[in-house]
Amino acid sequence: MIFPGEVFANTADFDQGIRQLLPNYDEMLDAVARCLSPQSQRILDLGCGTGGLSMKVLKSCPTAQVVALDYSPRMLEFASDKLETAGYAPKQWTGIQADFGDWANHQLEIKDGFDACVSSLAIHHLTDEMKLKLFSRIRESLNPGGVFWNADPVLPESPALSEAYQSVREEWAAQQGASLAEIRAKTGKSTPYGYSNPDQLATLDAHLQMLKTAGFESVAVPWKYYGLAVFGGFVK
Ligand SMILES: C[S@@+](CC[C@H](N)C(=O)[O-])C[C@H]1O[C@@H](n2cnc3c(N)ncnc32)[C@H](O)[C@@H]1O
Repeated sequence: MIFPGEVFANTADFDQGIRQLLPNYDEMLDAVARCLSPQSQRILDLGCGTGGLSMKVLKSCPTAQVVALDYSPRMLEFASDKLETAGYAPKQWTGIQADFGDWANHQLEIKDGFDACVSSLAIHHLTDEMKLKLFSRIRESLNPGGVFWNADPVLPESPALSEAYQSVREEWAAQQGASLAEIRAKTGKSTPYGYSNPDQLATLDAHLQMLKTAGFESVAVPWKYYGLAVFGGFVK
């Protein structure tokens, strides 16, 4: 059994497996990093996993301090090793083993005052009620001029779009020299853990509405590819 979001039964399979499973994973995470101001000083990464997004963010924002949260000790250990090998940890990267649902509910103390909050492939494990609470907490934690960018799967708006995305994923997997079935054979079975559940997808439109309800003054979608999107909001 694995936690929701760990995806692969063996954590060591994550970095290669996620690139086979999701079309344009690197491009999607690069979009998040590119949308940050290079001058950002404090950045929060929610659901950091093995540290892929933290690495890209630190390359884009070379003087930033990143606080990275993940509830999985297995994923966090991989992230720590990667960030340390790259020379970022412990000086510019701090990993915290915690559930971001607890942070959303003010049950976890982390100093506010972030220039940016980022997340990839993690928040879609929360119910919509908790997504809204988390977006509000993120809004509250950001400095004036701060931004939030989330790269996550979104619910296709029609069965035809769902089928189109499925065939795009099959083609993508074939280009990587595997079938989706072969890649999925390496995934683990997750059961609800903490605030997270197996996929709780919402449409892109529902996410943008939630961001506005949470108090983001304006919202944007800098990247989208079928069922994957990078979306977020700005604080004035
Ligand atoms: C699919 S991985 C993505 C990791 C990384 N952001 C990336 O894009 O490569 C999702 C991560 O979110 C974490 N996660 C899911 N729900 C969480 C929660 N409620 N609190 C903290 N971490 C969570 C999982 O443990 C997992 O490491």
